[in-house]
Amino acid sequence: MTDTARTGALPVEGVPAARVLDEIRALREADRPTHGGRLFAYVYDPGVAGLDELAQAAHAESAHVNGLDPTAFPSLLAMENALVGAAARLLGGGPGTSAPDVVGSVTSGGTESLILAVKAARDARPDLAGPRIVVPVSGHAAFAKAAHYLRVALDPVPVDPVTLRPAAADVAAAIRPETVLVAASAPSYAHGVVDPVAEIAAVAAAAGVRCHVDACFGGWTLPWLRRLGAPVPPFDFAVPGVTSISVDLHKYAYAPKGVSVLLHRDPELRGSQFFAYADWPGYTMVNPVITSTRSGGPITAAYATLRHLGEDGYLRLAAVTRDAVAGLADAVRAVDGLRLLAEPESTVVCFTADDPGLDLFVLVDELTARGWHTQPQLAYAGLPASVHLTVTAAVAPRVAEFGPALAEAVAAARAAGPVVLPPELLALAGSLTPEALTADLIAGLAAGLGLGAGPAPDRMAAVNTLLQAAPVRLRERLLVESVGLLQRPTW
Ligand SMILES: Cc1ncc(COP(=O)(O)O)c(C=O)c1O
Repeated sequence: MTDTARTGALPVEGVPAARVLDEIRALREADRPTHGGRLFAYVYDPGVAGLDELAQAAHAESAHVNGLDPTAFPSLLAMENALVGAAARLLGGGPGTSAPDVVGSVTSGGTESLILAVKAARDARPDLAGPRIVVPVSGHAAFAKAAHYLRVALDPVPVDPVTLRPAAADVAAAIRPETVLVAASAPSYAHGVVDPVAEIAAVAAAAGVRCHVDACFGGWTLPWLRRLGAPVPPFDFAVPGVTSISVDLHKYAYAPKGVSVLLHRDPELRGSQFFAYADWPGYTMVNPVITSTRSGGPITAAYATLRHLGEDGYLRLAAVTRDAVAGLADAVRAVDGLRLLAEPESTVVCFTADDPGLDLFVLVDELTARGWHTQPQLAYAGLPASVHLTVTAAVAPRVAEFGPALAEAVAAARAAGPVVLPPELLALAGSLTPEALTADLIAGLAAGLGLGAGPAPDRMAAVNTLLQAAPVRLRERLLVESVGLLQRPTW
């Protein structure tokens, strides 16, 4: 981006509004399609006419409202409390349930909700010098981020290679006197399987430890799928021992980005989540969540989305999504050499390849070339590489086209053959220590793989193959350095 006159953020002379919008639209043309059911990650599209316009108008109403002080902007507090109430009710809490005292906060996303669940658990045990959390390896990476940010040790629990779930006995064995939180997923992002929450919560409760259910992904679909008759196992506040649950409204509640809800079974459990500070000469500060100044936009847009869609809308969208998942799974089953890694039980389709002549990363590129954007997942701890599809309601009208496109892409991937990296590159990936990786070396590697400073190219198979060949810590360094190359100011 060198044409500063055209794209610089601070031109010498201001640019008329219509032109600014045109410029932004031109930039957006390089993006993956957020709507239309061909992007199976990052976005959640219900395909409901008029919903975007409503959410945008609602967002605009409150974009300049500041959630920093609920007494100054009671509108935001009212909407936040309504969102928390709706989420709690959907997830087995509220009046007339076994969890009548559920409270919660609206956060900016799943990661913030998980960090705060870990913080609340850590700070409830100030007596511990070295707090720890127990998380199945299928748990979202945000738990590891929380552990890293909060200096809490992470005790991973393996998952069964067939069921892709942790065993409660392994969770129990990982709990130590310093454990402050045990995590379970409903479902896991990678594979879309629901952990045995009841068993995990029971072992946590027996040890006197909090149990957080990460329902960021599935908390707004599993209840509707259950109402539609799907055999959804218990995962919410109806399960004794579940102390907190996170659910992202910017996922399957189809709200614009920036909204998640973190619920606690009672106010006492939430207390240590808050931060207050009065030991400075400025305003007295109390923050329920990590951010201090918070735009009212996402909360208001989520409120409008929930009110507009209503229970009947979500139920209908869940039914449509369930049918789309079944159709996509059938399309995978119909292709020789592909295998579902898990039978879909939520809104994820995840498959792998059993045929050495069929390189999954090449297949992902072939699908991209045909306008289908899927998400590759690297092999990890005995689990094979896989392709992840997050399925939303907007995918439904596309399902019939997906089968033939998948078959065609598989044939093309077979014809192209697996990626073969130069042996010296592979040897380097296998032997390099993360510390030995310099910025220069990374720049050389990136150039060798055809990656410049711009957006990622459509053919990523070589990059994924290299990452897969690298041990986990080296993968992380490679990722950090590569994004460091992308995040450079334009002048
Ligand atoms: C299960 C689960 N937890 C947490 C997160 C993190 O959410 P976010 O990306 O909103 O921070 C995700 C995101 O996909 C998720 O699927």
